[in-house]
Amino acid sequence: LLRPRHVQRRAISQKTDPSNDEPDAGFTLDPPSGTRDFFPEKMRMQRWLFDRFRETAQSYGFQEYDAPVLEHEDLYKRKAGEEITEQMYNFRDKEGAAVTLRPEMTPSLARMVLSLMRAETGAIAAVLPLKWYSIPQCWRFETTQRGRKREHYQWNMDIVGVSEVTAEAELLSAVVSFFENVGITSKDVGLRINSRKVLGAVLNTAGVTSDKFAETCVIIDKLDKIGADAVKQELSKQVGLSTEVADTIVAATGAKTLEEFADIAGVGESAEVQELRRLFALAEDYGFADWLQFDASVVRGLAYYTGVVFEGFDKAGVLRAVCGGGRYDKLLELYGSKKEVPCVGFGFGDCVVMELLKERGVLPELGPNVDMVVAAYNADMMGKAMNVARRLRQTGKSVDVYPEAARKVKKAFRYADKVGASRIAFVAPDEWERGEVRIKDLRCAADTPNDKKQCDIPLDKLG
Ligand code: HAM
Repeated sequence: LLRPRHVQRRAISQKTDPSNDEPDAGFTLDPPSGTRDFFPEKMRMQRWLFDRFRETAQSYGFQEYDAPVLEHEDLYKRKAGEEITEQMYNFRDKEGAAVTLRPEMTPSLARMVLSLMRAETGAIAAVLPLKWYSIPQCWRFETTQRGRKREHYQWNMDIVGVSEVTAEAELLSAVVSFFENVGITSKDVGLRINSRKVLGAVLNTAGVTSDKFAETCVIIDKLDKIGADAVKQELSKQVGLSTEVADTIVAATGAKTLEEFADIAGVGESAEVQELRRLFALAEDYGFADWLQFDASVVRGLAYYTGVVFEGFDKAGVLRAVCGGGRYDKLLELYGSKKEVPCVGFGFGDCVVMELLKERGVLPELGPNVDMVVAAYNADMMGKAMNVARRLRQTGKSVDVYPEAARKVKKAFRYADKVGASRIAFVAPDEWERGEVRIKDLRCAADTPNDKKQCDIPLDKLG
């Protein structure tokens, strides 16, 4: 009587119709809203994507790292009013500790780098620069929509300890390499680049104190969502900017070129503008400048970015940002570093890019990766079949043992077909007596003569 309702319902339906082995419709078989099951077919695609992420990061000399999906809630306590801090899956654990499923990886990376620096006291130079990558699962309680879920995997690449924009150039180049590897071109995707430093210079000139900087950026990031008027209102109400400064900032974000931006912002050829120019020049020499475009409206929504910010977008304009990142030179100070540690990186989700790859038709066909099926002629031969499977696996093959004795050859063939095997080994008494196994090729044309479709191989030559 105390059993939950759905269990009672299941019990009743099974009782009333014992022949029905379909799951009870009353029991939800979907995972929680905004989360995904990865059935084998989808899992193969996910692995393929992650392999491309890993290949790219490794080809740039980055080291892989990881951290727990459960983190201290404090790590994300930032006061700039970012959406991400409102979207956490946070709770108290059984010891009362305030924890959360990580909404992003960057704070964990900062925590790990600081702990390394603490362990290597006095030898920071030995630790930095670091080039690290990871593919963490991140959790955000979002309104789910195309390309946005409540959990996603996010490829991260970060460089710690390099203050020059050479680091940005390296990261942007890695993003481009990934796209090129998977068959996406600069006709499909572009990278919008801006620098928060230029915005910072505008605020500075207007006499706005630097403690208002992060909050200002988080508000400007809402331009697309709430429109210019609402942004101006928030800037004056929440940050206390004058109407004049708010107007200048919003107008500057509409600039089409870096020159126009610097002009409207009233900063001219400042150091911040020159830095951005250097990044574009490096991209030109590197050979991927055709992917970049300056965009004064890009500030990204995270509070900790301090300099160059960027995002990947699909040129058809249907999908949300494919990736996003930037420089965050002050984040480590927030966690107790005595001095500024220059950091820059990006996060690249798995959902939007999958949509993009599907749309462009560049996803590969991936079947199950079994090389061979081994079938026993009868129950007595099962142990021998298992021995054959063992020998084949020792030669590096992926081998699936057909689970029943295969008196009906067709059934074993169908099974081999289902698991994607191209060959089947029949372990039967006659061949076994001769020390051989019959191998049948399942992928040859129907009119292939029988002696070409199959052959008997000595046990010690299997492979
Ligand atoms: P972010 O801009 O919040 O940055 O997210 C980066 C990327 O993660 C997005 O562009 C998108 O591809 C993916 N993403 C974010 N939220 C979702 C979601 N709900 N569903 C699916 N995909 C999503 C960060 O998280 C920074 N920590 C990135 C970074 C690393 N900055 C420096 N280093």
